[in-house]
Amino acid sequence: MIVLVGFMGAGKTTVGRLVAEKLGVPFLDSDLVIEERAGRPIRDIFATDGEPAFRELERQVIAELLAGSPVVLALGGGAAGHPATRELLASAGAEVVFLSVGYEEAMTRVGGDSGRPMLARPDIAEVFRDRQETYSSVATLTVSTDGRAPEAAASDILARVPPSL
Ligand code: S3P
Repeated sequence: MIVLVGFMGAGKTTVGRLVAEKLGVPFLDSDLVIEERAGRPIRDIFATDGEPAFRELERQVIAELLAGSPVVLALGGGAAGHPATRELLASAGAEVVFLSVGYEEAMTRVGGDSGRPMLARPDIAEVFRDRQETYSSVATLTVSTDGRAPEAAASDILARVPPSL
């Protein structure tokens, strides 16, 4: 199992797809599984049920995915903030890759995406800063995507993981 963590705009989906393709395993994105499960977009879950409800659904979905067959799994940018998820990551024996990116570049990549409700927070720069330590604490490998092509980040990951998951 390869799990990608990092802030919005770090490239988790783009890099994750490349790695999964090379390894010949499925790519899963916890956000998409949550949306399928809830039958509505994340923006609506935040607006109607609130962030705590989203975080609980996120925790459940990730616990299920980590218990499943080996895949490349991208987690939403806030997922590693949940202590239960951090414990599961540690016990799952997964390669946890922190895709690191600078704040400016992350914001340029995601722009004002209305599908990402966290971007509307006035303290988003602080959220970014606070999360860096969390990402590092769960990571078994850190790969920068700042100013780099997704293919370069993908090859850094592939150089580190065994050919079979
Ligand atoms: C979030 C990041 C999003 C998504 C949700 C909350 C966050 O995922 O899970 O909008 O708290 O940073 P991406 O990192 O894939 O954009």
